[in-house]
Amino acid sequence: MYKRTYGVVLIGCGHIGQSHIEDIYYREQVRVVGVVDFHEDTAKLFARKYEAESWSTDYRDYLKRKDVDIVIVATYADSHLQIVKECLAAGKHVLCEKPMTVADPQQAREFYEIASSSPYKVLIAHVLRHNSTYNRVAEMIRNGAIGDVRLIRMVQNHHIMDKARYGRLMEDCPPFVDCGVHYVDVIRWFTGCEITSIGGIGTRVGDAVTPGHMDYGLLTMTLSNGGVAYYEAGWTETVAAQNLKEFIGNKGRIRLVLQCDRRDNREEGDLIDYYDASTKTYYTINNPSVYKNMWGQLETLIDMIEGRSNGNPTLEDAYRSFQITLAGQEALEQNRVVDLTNRF
Ligand SMILES: NC(=O)c1ccc[n+]([C@@H]2O[C@H](COP(=O)([O-])OP(=O)(O)OC[C@H]3O[C@@H](n4cnc5c(N)ncnc54)[C@H](O)[C@@H]3O)[C@@H](O)[C@H]2O)c1
Repeated sequence: MYKRTYGVVLIGCGHIGQSHIEDIYYREQVRVVGVVDFHEDTAKLFARKYEAESWSTDYRDYLKRKDVDIVIVATYADSHLQIVKECLAAGKHVLCEKPMTVADPQQAREFYEIASSSPYKVLIAHVLRHNSTYNRVAEMIRNGAIGDVRLIRMVQNHHIMDKARYGRLMEDCPPFVDCGVHYVDVIRWFTGCEITSIGGIGTRVGDAVTPGHMDYGLLTMTLSNGGVAYYEAGWTETVAAQNLKEFIGNKGRIRLVLQCDRRDNREEGDLIDYYDASTKTYYTINNPSVYKNMWGQLETLIDMIEGRSNGNPTLEDAYRSFQITLAGQEALEQNRVVDLTNRF
C-alpha cells in the first residue's frame, strides 16, 4: 500500500508511548527499529514486548542511522522542541505528541517556525482528529444537523490517582493547555469559526507535588459567529471525574458520550445523542470507534511523506490551537479577557 517500509523509533515509553507502539508494532511496512526511554528497564521491557529491534536510553543513538525514517516523540513537553530540532536536522520525519512545547509562546513559535520550514514532515498528535466518532460529529455539524452552532459545553476532569505522573506533566503545562489544545482544535474544526476572545477562571485545587501550574481551569471563549464555548479541565485528587462534550445550535443538539462513559448499551460503541428541534425527534446513533487511533495518526504522517496529505490537523491549525490555549493561560493568570481578533 505504501511506497516502502518505514523504520520507526519511539522516544518515551510512558502512558502515551504505549498507546502509540501497541497500535503500530505489528503493522505491515513498519519496522520498529528502536525504543528509547530514560529508564533502561522501561526501554528494555518495551523492546521485548513490542518486538523492537533495539533499545536505548539516548535517542541520539538513532538519529545518524539511515534505516530510521520516522521518530515518534512521546516524551514530556519540555523536551519536544529540542528533540524535534535534532530529528529534522538529521533528516527524520516526526510524529510529536501535543503540546508542541511547554506553556511558553516563544518556544511554541520557535517550534512552529522550525517545523514549517523543514523539508521533513511534522505531525502534531491531535488524536481526536483520527477518531471516527469525532469525525462523524464534525461531519454532522458541518452539514447543518444542529444549524448555527451557538453554544459548546465541554468538561474533562480527571480524578487523579497517580499524583507524581500528573505533577510532572503540570510542571510543563496546566491541564487546560495540555488537554485544552485538543478541544480548542475541536471547536475550530467542528464549527469552522475562529475564537475571538478567551477568558475564564483557574486555581490550584490540590496540594502541589512540584512547583507548577494551576491544576484546574475553566476557559470561556467567544466565536466569530457570535456563539460561545467553554472548556473545563482539572487534574486533582479531589475533583470528581467528568466528561461532557455537547454542541448546541439553533436547530438541534448533539451530545457525544464515549463508550466508557455510557450507562447502557456500551457494547454498541460511542453514543452520539442527537436532538433535531425541527421535528422534535431524538436519535440514538451508536458508533464503534478506537478512541486513540494511533495507527490512523501514523498513516497520516506517511501520507504527508508520500505527498497525499498536508496533515490532520495541519501544522498551522495545531499551532493556532496551542496559541489560543496559551492566551487562555494568560487570561487566567491575569484575571482578564484576552481579545484574539487581531492577535495572530
Ligand atoms: N494525545 C493524548 O491523548 C495524550 C495523552 C497523554 C499524554 N499525552 C502527551 O504525551 C506526552 C507524554 O505524556 P505521558 O502521559 O505519556 O507521560 P509519562 O510520564 O507516562 O511518560 C513519559 C515517558 O517519557 C520518558 N522520557 C521523558 N523525556 C525523555 C527523554 N528526553 N528521553 C527519553 N525518555 C524520556 C519518561 O522516562 C517516561 O517514561 C506529554 O506531552 C503529554 O501531554 C498525550
